[in-house]
Formats: sequence, structure tokens, C-alpha cells
Amino acid sequence: MRSDLTEVASTYMSLKRRGRNMVGLCPFHGEKTPSFNIYTENNSFYCFGCGAGGDVITFIMKIENLDYIEAVRFLAQRAGLSMPENNYDDSMMQLRKRIYEANRSAARFFHNVLYSNEGRAGLEYLYSRGLTDKTIRHFGLGFAPDNRFALSNFLRDKGYRENELVQANLVYKNKSGKGTNDRFYNRVMFPIIDVRGNVIAFGGRIMTDQKPKYLNTSDTPVFKKSGNLFSLNNAKKTTDRTLILCEGYMDVIAVNQAGFENAVATLGTALTSEQAVLMKRFADDVIICYDADEAGQKATQRAIDILRKAGLNIRILTVPQGKDPDEFIRKQGSNGGAAFYNLVKDSKNDVEYRLNKIKSKYNMKVADQRVRYLNEAIKSLSSLEDDIEQQIYASKLADETGVQKESILSSLRSFRRKNERNQEKKIQRQMYADLSGRDDKINPQHRSEPKATNAEEMLISLVINHPDIASYVYDKITEKSFVTDFNMKLYGYIMDRIERGYEPLTSAGEDFTQDEISKIYGIAHRTITAKVSKELVDEYIKIILQEKNKVNKEDFKSLTPEEMREFIKKQRERRE
Ligand code: UTP
Ligand code: MN
Repeated sequence: MRSDLTEVASTYMSLKRRGRNMVGLCPFHGEKTPSFNIYTENNSFYCFGCGAGGDVITFIMKIENLDYIEAVRFLAQRAGLSMPENNYDDSMMQLRKRIYEANRSAARFFHNVLYSNEGRAGLEYLYSRGLTDKTIRHFGLGFAPDNRFALSNFLRDKGYRENELVQANLVYKNKSGKGTNDRFYNRVMFPIIDVRGNVIAFGGRIMTDQKPKYLNTSDTPVFKKSGNLFSLNNAKKTTDRTLILCEGYMDVIAVNQAGFENAVATLGTALTSEQAVLMKRFADDVIICYDADEAGQKATQRAIDILRKAGLNIRILTVPQGKDPDEFIRKQGSNGGAAFYNLVKDSKNDVEYRLNKIKSKYNMKVADQRVRYLNEAIKSLSSLEDDIEQQIYASKLADETGVQKESILSSLRSFRRKNERNQEKKIQRQMYADLSGRDDKINPQHRSEPKATNAEEMLISLVINHPDIASYVYDKITEKSFVTDFNMKLYGYIMDRIERGYEPLTSAGEDFTQDEISKIYGIAHRTITAKVSKELVDEYIKIILQEKNKVNKEDFKSLTPEEMREFIKKQRERRE
């Protein structure tokens, strides 16, 4: 089975052909201009923006948050084939499966408790917050009893082991070290469900003003809070590719009950670019609907930047009178849906929102303040990449301030040139940093050995792209002569694969970490279009050997007598 990366990736993102390759906005980090490349000739990808790279399996691992075996299985299922079960060491996958099942049982348990005597307080609390039974059922809301062993007793009876429940973060080991306590008790429970319908985590709200108000599942093998959104399982059904981004669980639920199924919320943390990219899978437009307080406004500004980078169009909905969406809707009574619809209709795009914010700081009746408004507004608009957008807002500014549109535009252009120059400088700095190995986390020796590292990487790159030269190269240099440990390991690995008749990187996903894989594909892509020549290869080998010698000599100076003896012994071995 070999899945075509272009075909697989295009279900997650839009791709354009460029020469032999495909390019698009990287799904692994937020960006406005595409730096994600698919190399069709070897079915691999690499992003020049964030350094993510790999093959089709790596792509699925990253985007679906799966481990290696699960990704293989996912692709097999996708291709309509079934995989033999249990042929692999899949203990991690088994654990994840158990956690999904335990979470699902827990959600059922909490929901049943809610509608029993034990859950009366919880049900009354939800009613008091205006929720109907239909809404409660739709979200599968529940109640965790006021008893620290209720859930674990229930799940243990169903055959779950302590370790599984601890790993699911449903229980934690209590201080005495014996036995466990339930993580959630005496709280109203909100299950968090991913887009594939798995219960991956919970949020639980206390019914008094004790703290923490909400308790959430910590990250587990099936849950990363920075990469998921509450109610995306409902919201993904949106037909007009629009999502409403709220601050909290109750806002999402109230907005749903008012008739808008496309609301989501982050899970107790600020929005991340991973979440923005996830939203982009289901939407082109996002309406930010945060609380009207100052914290909410700060968060709005951050969200605008992050969502824009992910290529989403943004509108900002302002809830009047400093309320959050939930309170607003409830106050409106039976008119809630219509009232909220009006807010949606009145929402402003992010540029208008930004300009309004700036304007509110100045008194437009005073000439001097108008000029300051204009300057600040122009600076803000200069970050717009779209010419038409700039034209439109320049006209608007001209109307507001009485300054000619032409001079506004020319001032905009000069700001833009300055931005571009800064951008250029930034890229150059980044390239220099890459070459110097300053930020190389995978190969920390890169920094102190830039020359050797670069030669090693180029040589490895050539071998990966031209396996037919492997035996020529290996005769001249073995991994023992490599200077940096990571490249030494990588070179040995690749040579071994080729020797055994495999493609060098097809199972790298099993043998290296995700970050290492990205690094390796970054190396591979460096020479993907390069012609290989004996001179080139020999030159890299020469550099590596020279640098290796240098390293040895330098080490020499600081050796203790014992180390010296050890060193001489090693030198001898190497010659044999
Ligand atoms: P808010 O404090 O704004 O609460 O937190 P809320 O959503 O209005 O909740 P209600 O209406 O009082 O019930 C917003 C979101 O931040 C997270 C939750 O996801 C919450 O929905 N949060 C808040 C926590 O994770 N822990 C907390 O202690 C508080
Ligand atoms: Mn609230």
C-alpha cells in the first residue's frame, strides 16, 4: 500500500501546483504565505516556515495526532484495506483505546447520575442557568457525585485498571500512595468530544464560588488541550464554513441553544495556532465572541493575529453592556436567538475593529488628535497585504480626516516598504541562525561544529536522494568519522537501510521522533534537485575528515592521562 501524499493532504488543506511540486499554507503552523511543499517525486513534504517534514505517515501522525502504527492503520482504512490486528507492538495504541472507552463510560455515568437523585443539585444548577433537557442531552452534560470514589468504583467494576484510569486523568493517586481519588467530584460535567466522536476529556464546574471554577482534564495520551476545541464535533457541521469562537463552555452552550450550532471554545487556555489551523479545516470565517471585559479584549487582539496567520477571515462580535454571550442571551429571554443574530450581523471585520479601537483613543474634533489618529491608523493598515483592502480603508480614512486619499496611500506604501525590508532582514537572520546551528535542538553540536555539520548534512542528503552512490561513499567514510553524534547515528541508519535493500527513509517514522523526522526531511530536501558528482561528494567527505581531525586535536589538549590512553586505544581500533 502506498498512499499518495498530495491526495491525502488535500483533504486537510488546499494545494496549488508549482512546477513538479505542490505548495500550500502549512497546516502545522499559522501562516499567510505558503511555505509548505509536497515533493511529488518522493511523496514527501517539508515546510520552510516551521521545519515540519516527513512522508505521508508522518503527515497523518502530526495532523491526526496519532502514533506511528495508528497512522499506518488510519491510511490503510482510508484506502479501504484492513490491517491485520495485533501484529505489532501496539501497547500505546491499546492504552489509548482503553482511555477512549473509559472516558465514554465516564461520560455515560455522569449523565445518568445527573438524572438520578444523586445528581439533583447538578440538574437544578443547569436549569437555573437556563438550559433545557434537550440541550443537556445534546451536549451529554452530567454530574460527578460528591464522593471521591464514585467514578473509580464504577469503572473498576467494568474492568478498568488503576493505571488506565490514572493515565486517563479520571483519577489520581492519593497522597498516602494507596488507592486513588476521582479527579472530578461534586461538579457539573462537560464532556469534550473530538471531531471523530471520541470523548477525549472533561471540564467540570463547581456550583459555588469556590476555586477553581472549572477543572479540566490535564493532557493525556488522547488529549492535548492546546490542540482541541470544545464542541467542534457539533460545529464542524457548519454548512457556510463559519465558526463562532467563544471564551467558555457555557457561552458555547447558550449560543447553541439560541440556534447557532457553529460555536466553539478553547479549553481554559488562550487560543493557539494549532487550534486556528484546526478551525481552518472546517471554516473560512471566524466570528470572535469574547467577553466584553478588558481581559476579553486583550484576548481578542491575540486571537485576531493568530487566526489571520492561519488564513481565516475574522469578524468581531461585541456583546453590549459588558456581558458574556451566555448572560446576554439569557437576559433576552425568548428573544435570545434573534438578539444574538443581530449581534452577528453587526459584527465588524478585524480591520474595522482595529480602526475603531484606535479612534476611540482620540477626540476627532481636535485637528492635532485627528492627525495622530491618522498616523496610527496608517501604521496599522500597512500590515494589510491586500491592495484592494488598503484602497478601501484609505478612502475611509480620507473621508474621516479630510486628508487626500493619495497622500494617505503614499504614506501607506512607504510603511509597507519598511515592513518588507524588516521582513527581509528577519529572513536573513533566520538563515544565518540555521547555518550557524544556533537553534538546532536536534543536533546540539551543530553550534560548535557548523562546518562539519553542514558537510555531514549535505553528504547525508545526497545519499538519501541518490542511494546508488551509497557504497562509493561508505567505502570512503564510515559513521565513525562523523563529527556530530546525531549525524553519525543518522548516517549509520541510512547506510544500513540501503545496504539491506530498503528505501532510506520509509520507516523512519518508527525509529526517530517527530522532531527528528522533520529535521531529517529538511536535510533530505536540501539536495532534492541537485545533480550529484564525484567531486561534490569527495569535497564533503574531505571536509568532514578534516573537521574530525581538528576535533580530535582539540580534545587532546584537555585530556587527562587516562583519557589519553583511552584515546590512543580508540585511534588504534579505528585503524584496524
Ligand atoms: P470564565 O471565568 O469567563 O467563565 O471562563 P464562564 O465561561 O463565564 O463560566 P460561567 O458562565 O461562570 O459558568 C471562561 C473559560 O475559561 C476556562 C473555562 O473553559 C471557562 O469556560 N476556565 C475558567 C477554566 O478552565 N478554569 C477556571 O477556573 C476558570
Ligand atoms: Mn459566563
